[in-house]
Amino acid sequence: MIKYRPSDFSEVAPVWREKLWSAEYDFQSTSCMIYPSGYDIDIPKKYSAVFFVAEDEGKIVGVYSGHLTSPEHFRARGLYVDPDYRGQGISRQLFNLILAEAKKQKATLLWTTPRQSSWATYASFGFTQDSEFTHEGFRYGPNCYASMKVSTDNRLISFLKNYFLL
Ligand SMILES: CC(C)(COP(=O)(O)OP(=O)(O)OC[C@H]1O[C@@H](n2cnc3c(N)ncnc32)[C@H](O)[C@@H]1OP(=O)(O)O)[C@@H](O)C(=O)NCCC(=O)NCCS
Repeated sequence: MIKYRPSDFSEVAPVWREKLWSAEYDFQSTSCMIYPSGYDIDIPKKYSAVFFVAEDEGKIVGVYSGHLTSPEHFRARGLYVDPDYRGQGISRQLFNLILAEAKKQKATLLWTTPRQSSWATYASFGFTQDSEFTHEGFRYGPNCYASMKVSTDNRLISFLKNYFLL
C-alpha cells in the first residue's frame, strides 16, 4: 500500500537529481522564480520549502515540493512519480498535499511551471495555462507558467489532516 508522508530536501534531492533533473543542475531547496515571470533572489532567506513523498514498503515512488514565493503565491515544484507506479493517482495525492499546504500558509494562488509533456496531468489538477510553452528560461522544457486560485474552503485541509495525520 502506498503511504504519503512529509519529507525533507535531503531525501527528495537525490530523486530530483537522478530522475527529474540532472547532476549538472545545482538546484536548491527553494527556487528564486516568481509568478508570473522573473526572479526574487531573497526567496531562500524568506521562505522554506515543504516536501512530501509517496512510499511503497520503504521505497520512494513519488515526490513533490512547494514553497511561498510571496505572501500570496505558493509554488508547486518537482513532481515526479516512478514509471512503475504511474497511472494510479499518486501524483494527484501528492498534489492534494501541496494544495493543502498552500492553503495552510494562506496563499491565494498556487502556481507552477509544468513541462508540456506532463500538461495533461496538471490540467486534470485544475491548473490554467498562463503562458505559451517555451524553452526560454527552462532547462528541461518546453514549460509554461500555470496557476489556480486557492479556495479558502478548509474542508480539504481537515480531510487531509484526518487521513494523513499532518
Ligand atoms: C506527470 C506524472 C507526475 C504523473 O504521475 P501519475 O502518478 O502517473 O499521475 P496520476 O495517476 O496521479 O494521474 C493524475 C492525472 O493525470 C492524468 N495523466 C497521468 N499521466 C497521463 C498521461 N501520460 N497522459 C494523459 N493524462 C495523464 C491522469 O489521467 C489523471 O487525471 P484523472 O485523475 O482526471 O484521470 C508522471 O508521469 C511523471 O513523473 N512524469 C515524469 C516527470 C514529470 O514530467 N514531472 C512533471 C514535471 S513538470
